[in-house]
Amino acid sequence: MLPAEFTPLEESAPGPHRRRVRYAGKNPRRFEDKYKELNPGLYAADVAKVIAAGKTPAGSHRPIMVAEILDVLALQPGETAVDCTLGFGGHARELLARLTPGGRLIGLDVDPIEHSKTTARLRAAGWGEASFIPVRSNFAGLVKVLAELQVDRVDAILADLGVSSMQLDDPSRGFSFKIDGPLDLRLNPSRSPSAAHWLADISAAKLAAALVENADEPQAELLARELIVRRAKTPFTRTVQLAEIVRAILLQHRSRYDRSADDDCVRRVFQAIRIAVNDEFGVLDLFLRRLPSCLKTGGRVAMLTFHSGEDRRVKQAFREGLRSGIYAATNEEIMRAGPEERRANPRSASAKLRWAVRA
Ligand SMILES: C[S@@+](CC[C@H](N)C(=O)[O-])C[C@H]1O[C@@H](n2cnc3c(N)ncnc32)[C@H](O)[C@@H]1O
Repeated sequence: MLPAEFTPLEESAPGPHRRRVRYAGKNPRRFEDKYKELNPGLYAADVAKVIAAGKTPAGSHRPIMVAEILDVLALQPGETAVDCTLGFGGHARELLARLTPGGRLIGLDVDPIEHSKTTARLRAAGWGEASFIPVRSNFAGLVKVLAELQVDRVDAILADLGVSSMQLDDPSRGFSFKIDGPLDLRLNPSRSPSAAHWLADISAAKLAAALVENADEPQAELLARELIVRRAKTPFTRTVQLAEIVRAILLQHRSRYDRSADDDCVRRVFQAIRIAVNDEFGVLDLFLRRLPSCLKTGGRVAMLTFHSGEDRRVKQAFREGLRSGIYAATNEEIMRAGPEERRANPRSASAKLRWAVRA
């Protein structure tokens, strides 16, 4: 049986029937050919096999550290909570099940494409307007969102930072260096600049700084210098093109080929660009400053981070809040996914969970 979060969207939104072009092989590699994973309602057994193999079905996302988050947030029926990063709605379903009857969840996401799909999926799963309030917004604007909803403060807040598997897997979003697509990397594609535009204008010094600050890249100066030289010959427009250019730079400055080290480096370059393009640290800093004013006394916040730049900020904000008396408690030691979850979902391996309770 499929987990509840895989309720098919198609059931809620019937459209004119169109014959699907079937992939002829057994294990499709291209996102568009994974029609079984993209239609869990029709191919439940195939999707269950993908999950059992420790993979995330295309077009979906598996929520991370659910039990630990539920424990920390300790939701009660009748309470009001915010999921700042709705994504596929995996955490949201669990929060909703504990807030009802009588409670409500406000579900934010900055991504207009996935936010509307997830809203439709949650509505189809029976979460009506009284319990689930979707708002397409950056979480840096939470104070304004609550004011517009005439909600003073809330009982609990969750933020599961970064990108979802749906965003990573969809080549047209340009988040992955493994599948070719436009070099975009925007969480909200209606906002400019795209990664291609950002890279077209950036100086070598600023690029090197972004590689260090956003991804702790040890070869930042070399990569930045060489990328700017190569950009003068050909603009960077595609994901695979940029990945290959980074690999070529590494090969030129190293005596031996090392695919895995190269992939790690390419991953860091993409992470640094994504963080810059979406101003992820800027909005996180703003959110952390405004967060206490959104929580009731005794209100709980849980934050999942996926790299050191994010975790550092959350740790510092919670510790300073504890010292100044804004928070009554926070975790000293970070919480991590258990071995079983890491095995079943490798994307959980880098997750760090921090929480705080409002004084
Ligand atoms: C890791 S996913 C969340 C997955 C979700 N918890 C689930 O169970 O399906 C992160 C989501 O946060 C969104 N996001 C990232 N930064 C954001 C921001 N500043 N404001 C609102 N949403 C943001 C992304 O668009 C993405 O959908």
